[in-house]
Amino acid sequence: MRKTDTSRRKKYDFLVIGSGIAGLSFALKVAKHGKVCVITKGKIAESNTSYAQGGISAVTYLPDNFEKHIQDTLIAGAGLCNAEVVETVVNEAPAQIAQLLEWGTQFDKTEDGKFDLHREGGHSEHRILHHKDNTGFEIQRALSKATLEHPNIDVLENHFAVEIITQHHLGEMVNKWRKDIECYGAYVLNQQTNNVETILARVTMMATGGLGNVYETTTNPDIATGDGIAMVYRAKGAIENMEFIQFHPTSLYNPKERPSFLITEAMRGFGGILRRKDGKKFMHKYDERESLAPRDIVARAIDNEMKMTGDSFVYLDVTHKDAQEIKDHYPNIYQKCLSLGIDITKEMIPVVPAAHFACGGIKVDAKGRSSIARLYAAGECSSTGLHGANRLASNSLLEAVVYADAAAKDAIQHLPSYNFCDQVPEWNDEGTSQPEEMVLITQSQKELEQIMSYYVGIVRSNLRLKRAMDRLEILYHETEDLYQRSVVSKRLCELRNTIQVGYLIIKMARQRKESRGLHYTIDYPNQLKGLEVI
Ligand code: FAD
Ligand code: SIN
Repeated sequence: MRKTDTSRRKKYDFLVIGSGIAGLSFALKVAKHGKVCVITKGKIAESNTSYAQGGISAVTYLPDNFEKHIQDTLIAGAGLCNAEVVETVVNEAPAQIAQLLEWGTQFDKTEDGKFDLHREGGHSEHRILHHKDNTGFEIQRALSKATLEHPNIDVLENHFAVEIITQHHLGEMVNKWRKDIECYGAYVLNQQTNNVETILARVTMMATGGLGNVYETTTNPDIATGDGIAMVYRAKGAIENMEFIQFHPTSLYNPKERPSFLITEAMRGFGGILRRKDGKKFMHKYDERESLAPRDIVARAIDNEMKMTGDSFVYLDVTHKDAQEIKDHYPNIYQKCLSLGIDITKEMIPVVPAAHFACGGIKVDAKGRSSIARLYAAGECSSTGLHGANRLASNSLLEAVVYADAAAKDAIQHLPSYNFCDQVPEWNDEGTSQPEEMVLITQSQKELEQIMSYYVGIVRSNLRLKRAMDRLEILYHETEDLYQRSVVSKRLCELRNTIQVGYLIIKMARQRKESRGLHYTIDYPNQLKGLEVI
């Protein structure tokens, strides 16, 4: 059995879990005020951030204005956005864009030196700053470089956060006193040594990103397993809005590929038209904004058309646009499709919806504070109130930088009042052994993804949700049992986390007795046009 390593206890002022836009922008902001450790379960650039295509929304030039961006966000959110949060994030956007530029991010410009702004679904104006069709890669490049060069930041790659440390680990009962729960750092699996290390921190930032791997088809890379949400839930922190899972309408139909390759929504802003396999347009039946309606509407419409026709995909058509412009604006999409034998300047692109973004997560206040003291959360693992029941395209990179900034300011202010908690015990794995068979983990993961995709996808019902919960319960008990008996491994922890996150999605979906935004159920078919045929 592996021995726990007590010699490697580390102490930092700030522990940041995750190296995407939320984690790195927080780290860069607090690094002047203390020693920072960023841990990340893969390489520094393995994040959802690196995959972002369309861009980051911000009001930049007239005729756009803050009020329009606010209204677009509120409309997409289907009545559940926190209006104050929306106003703050939209107003903060230009300052945070300036900060990204200062860290070295390049956004495309037109010949006259102005930013080239794209438009996406739900936006009434062109307001998406972008770098070609790989904006996230460019942001991640700039932030990773600035972080790795910073003398006050240590980056530990291949370090997997297993649990956050709270009084629970000191043997204290905390469940009755939710407000008093405090976070003292995290237990972290060093994947090079296979030891679980204790990293103590005065402040911890949870920035673990999304959870797309709960589903069979997702645009998210394999790091997106909802770890932060599951860890905070187990520590009795508040989690909310998990029923609102956003399916991106247009991922490339290429069944063998995981993650699914995204075809950016900006292509619809550019004039792309959705068509059935027989070439007929269909979006006019569902929404007057047609292909540029908010994502929930477009994804549901595609799902409905596929169910009616029995086809496995629909098409996105840009063949009527100028070929050179397509290649200039979307070079990566052009090359990717060409590698599969599709010349998008001449042929339509087969697309299907795929799980893409979690609107809910760890509940935070306006300063990015979770319900657990000393624990902040930002980015996709958090729930700020910005997205409501459906996120407006390109608002999530923005949300991440705005909240990382708010959290950094609050954490810096409170740092002097937080001490290290030296009584924290080392990780105890006595009595555990290697899991007998890896297939127990891989098969359970597949079962989970199927349950979630078939019963908790774009269209739901009371019966489907109950069936999902019943099936999930079996997986939950089997996995908990395996976890208690086994030495910690990344794969087993990820399975445990995806199951717990799946449980939260189903539980909150069952509590919502209406169809709203991304949560559509045939038992409450209110307000939804064009879908009576399902
Ligand atoms: P991430 O960037 O996912 O970073 C999470 C980090 O946490 C990773 O480094 C990961 O390795 C680490 N991590 C996770 N669990 C653990 C653990 N247990 N221990 C240690 N480390 C851990 N949004 C937009 O606004 N505009 C877009 O154009 C856009 N396009 C997108 C395209 C695609 C294909 C995808 C998948 C998403 C897109 N999004 C877009 C959404 C956006 O990219 C994400 O919401 C955002 O990047 C999340 O940033 P983050 O920092 O919260 O998380
Ligand atoms: C896209 O480029 O379509 C993704 C944008 C987003 O998820 O916000």
